[in-house]
Amino acid sequence: MGGGRGGSAGVLSGPGGENEGMEKIPLERDAFLAPVPVVLLTCMGQDGFRNILTVSWVNVVCGTPPMVGVAVRQSRFSCVLIRETGEFVLNIPPAALLRAVDFCGTVSGQTTDKFSETHLTAVPGSKVRPPMIKECPINLECVVRHTLPLGSHVLFLAEVAAVHADADVVEDGTIVLGRVAPLTFDPFGGDYWNLKEVVAHHGFSDGSMPDRVEKRQIRQRA
Ligand SMILES: Cc1cc2nc3c(=O)[nH]c(=O)nc-3n(C[C@H](O)[C@H](O)[C@H](O)COP(=O)(O)O)c2cc1C
Repeated sequence: MGGGRGGSAGVLSGPGGENEGMEKIPLERDAFLAPVPVVLLTCMGQDGFRNILTVSWVNVVCGTPPMVGVAVRQSRFSCVLIRETGEFVLNIPPAALLRAVDFCGTVSGQTTDKFSETHLTAVPGSKVRPPMIKECPINLECVVRHTLPLGSHVLFLAEVAAVHADADVVEDGTIVLGRVAPLTFDPFGGDYWNLKEVVAHHGFSDGSMPDRVEKRQIRQRA
């Protein structure tokens, strides 16, 4: 590869694809970024009440310090709780928890104790007061550093204070995502998707580390 800025050699896919000449249709303006992750956020009020909120408007926003951003609608019960303590935990659920994921993203903690209804297990973290969810193989304890009211949603920018992972999803000190069997969400159609296969490894386009594709094949949990 090569050519750099303005160089034609940098074009990897040639003309004549099946979409050539396809008309672009202007759609209504919306924050349609897809797919988005599916995460269970646990938070806690000053009174000790523990709640679970399904979130998809969540992303990595900084590497050093490690930070995430979560957009929570102002009217959500969870928004009040997160503001109260300035802490939350991001729990990455396996596909097996799909029913609990949907439930926690449909009913409100204002009227329902989601921990007792879903039978998910609250376990203490090491840095923040809200509990981690035992059945989720990856848990990120987060401390809110900035709160930005943007409109309908509040953006919580939080530092990752501690990371926990089940031993069976960790290999050589790193998380093997295929063993987690995570979910993604389609905000257009409202569908949950699973991840079935790895299609390539980072760096494959210039020939680096192609063999790692095999090692990282998605393995569903038994
Ligand atoms: C897949 C999925 C993703 C969601 N993502 C978000 C989100 O990122 N931010 C948000 O405020 N609400 C989101 N929701 C909606 C809340 O989870 C839902 O309104 C929940 O019942 C609010 O609970 P609470 O009242 O206990 O806070 C999502 C729901 C689903 C099903």
